Amino acid sequence: MSAQESVSAIDHSRTAYGDEAFSRYLRRAFLASAGYDDVDLDRPVIGIAVTTSAYNTCHREMPALADAVRRGVLEAGGLPMEFPTISLGEILTSPTSMLFRNLMAMDTEEMIHALPMDAAILLGGCDKTVPAQLMAAASADKPVLLEVVGPMMTGSWRGERLGACTDCRRLWARHRAGELDAGEITQARGELVTTAGTCAVMGTASTMACMTETLGMMLPGGATAGAATGERLRHGAATGRRAVELARQGAPIPREILTKHAFENAIKVLAALGGSTNALVHLVAVARRAGIDLSLTEFDTIGAKVPLLVDCKPSGANYMEDFHRSGGLPALLKELEPHLETSTVGISGRPLAELLEQTRPREDWQHVIRPLGDPLGPPGALAVLTGSLAPNGAVIKTSAASAELLQHTGPAFVVEAGQDIARILDDPDLDITPDHVLVLRGAGPVGAGMPEAGALPIPGKLARQGIRDIVRVSDARMSGTSYGTVVLHCDPEAAAGGPLAVVRNGDLIRLDVPARRLDLMVDEAEIARRLRDFTPAPLPSRGWRRLYAETVLPASQGADLSFL
Ligand code: FES
Repeated sequence: MSAQESVSAIDHSRTAYGDEAFSRYLRRAFLASAGYDDVDLDRPVIGIAVTTSAYNTCHREMPALADAVRRGVLEAGGLPMEFPTISLGEILTSPTSMLFRNLMAMDTEEMIHALPMDAAILLGGCDKTVPAQLMAAASADKPVLLEVVGPMMTGSWRGERLGACTDCRRLWARHRAGELDAGEITQARGELVTTAGTCAVMGTASTMACMTETLGMMLPGGATAGAATGERLRHGAATGRRAVELARQGAPIPREILTKHAFENAIKVLAALGGSTNALVHLVAVARRAGIDLSLTEFDTIGAKVPLLVDCKPSGANYMEDFHRSGGLPALLKELEPHLETSTVGISGRPLAELLEQTRPREDWQHVIRPLGDPLGPPGALAVLTGSLAPNGAVIKTSAASAELLQHTGPAFVVEAGQDIARILDDPDLDITPDHVLVLRGAGPVGAGMPEAGALPIPGKLARQGIRDIVRVSDARMSGTSYGTVVLHCDPEAAAGGPLAVVRNGDLIRLDVPARRLDLMVDEAEIARRLRDFTPAPLPSRGWRRLYAETVLPASQGADLSFL
């Protein structure tokens, strides 16, 4: 076939020189310099988004995974073409990777559009990478498959199993309480993150991997296979092979997979997992991109029918490697089958009902996935609250909270994002009691990019008294690996003039999770008067942060940019 007649994907998305034939000619000339001839270039082209970065330790094994994916593409007769996008490592990105989720989604979406490819495989893993890639996929007009690096393995210290990051937080809390000295906490550090891969517990990364598989955007079995395992590589190769089949078919595109039923299934799985609160923000954002109407309250009404089944930290006691041994997400879906809509079809091309027929859970590990008749916890692992302190909604992970604090009234103690909060809370003379409600504000999307700062440290004075939990309220997020009675995502946020902005030290706050309420016990007229006097802080002066602050949607709407 001549260059002029070619219809191969490599000739699509032509560079605009005003002469299409010349654009095709030039493209093949440059690709020849990279060793590609027409036999290569007339195959289905599979773009592979690679997010390897020295700043993203969770993705350290991604080159091996990309090799496996590439092998799968070649085996099926496709042409693999790797391309880089932004990579967001949770721990090394300042001030928070969430500030850049939408930027990564834009980067990925635009590259899928701009580069010639018949289908795309997006390789991610660490917290915000998968949500960003799902958002990008939902905006794509060609088949897209997601693959993740998989979770890390656990370590061991003094006979105790450890894994990032629930144990990181737990040991640090013990250090703050004076139970572990500097030498001990340093020694333990070497066992917290022992391999590449995403966090070892049901944090945001694992939650979103499970959401991706449930939605049908990943081949079955992909959410939980460990980063260090051959199974992960085999799954990567299978993803490569499947991408070529989808490329030849030209379907399904993500919007055909991301249906309302798929999101409802995801919400039920989220409840059974006791998954990360971050999933609420991310799923709403993905649904919005896919044109699906998904409200915050649906997480409560739909999820409230499903009990907590997965015994994984931070809601339980086990780790992702245990969940995988128990059969992983397919085994959980099998247990949840009576609650699910099983006509959904993902990138495998087979209805969920058919996949579940072939699912055989590992009986020797079934203690990690509890049966519906003997759940780990009651329905409602994630609750959505409203009230005078969060008129548009707030979120709490009840499965990781203290039961005795789920109905609590106490005086506010207010700190602001940007303050040296640990120093304030460690003041030995701090006038604070276990009854106090810690309030963090200015940490919403507009205020600070919505960092995972909501699980404020227990004030040092109380920690040394053995207090491990008090009620905390904020417009921030918290890590999926965190735990405690922590109310998050208060909307409207303080920086946008929400009531959180005018809470004063000593004001009473009432949390009533069974009634789904969060209220500032201050007269309505007084709240309105205070809000009239409130002056928001100026927005960032330039660049991405300015664009973000000017256009970001509230947390309850997914915190995407309004124009996307
Ligand atoms: Fe990457 Fe937890 S820091 S997944």
